[in-house]
Amino acid sequence: MADAALTGKSEKRYQMGKMIVAVIALMLAAVPLAAQAAEADKEKAQVTEADLKKGEKVFKRKCRQCHNADKEKKKIGPHLVGLFGRKAGTVDGFRYSSAMKAKGEEGLVWDAETLDEYLTRPKKMVPKGKMMFPGLKKEADRFNLIGYLEKVTKKPAE
Ligand code: HEC
Repeated sequence: MADAALTGKSEKRYQMGKMIVAVIALMLAAVPLAAQAAEADKEKAQVTEADLKKGEKVFKRKCRQCHNADKEKKKIGPHLVGLFGRKAGTVDGFRYSSAMKAKGEEGLVWDAETLDEYLTRPKKMVPKGKMMFPGLKKEADRFNLIGYLEKVTKKPAE
């Protein structure tokens, strides 16, 4: 009987020990998690300011073959000069799809928000549009690109 009481006690102590180990392990695991969260916050803070160099790279790789951003000259697509605040489908002399012209008539105006939506998946926003571009899946790419466009598509002060 005395023996059984003893093992009962040491069993309890053993269980306590296990719990303490578990708590310590949890605390240790929480440290890198907290560090990761801080890192993620830092990244978020960084993308509140567009990286124009990266934005330019995205433009050169994905858009330049079809668009001029700083010259009022069409390529396969319309030029993008004065893009911000411009109504969709309204560059003179460019043959837009009727879908894009209709969007403009419905009141679509290009700004950071509407561009973000369009460039994510052009065919989703303008299903019958004629821009042959699948879309930019990465939010950071769109963010940097739009920041770059906002800067380079400004008309020079007259
Ligand atoms: C393969 C050629 C091609 C590529 C690549 C392309 N575009 Fe286009 N883009 C077009 C065409 C063509 C239109 C006209 C669409 C229509 O009429 O439906 C257009 C329309 C647009 C419009 C609307 C312009 C307006 O005047 O309403 C914007 C903004 C635009 N493109 C931005 C971009 C950006 C930014 C990229 C790169 C991420 C890009 N495009 C990639 C061909 C292209």
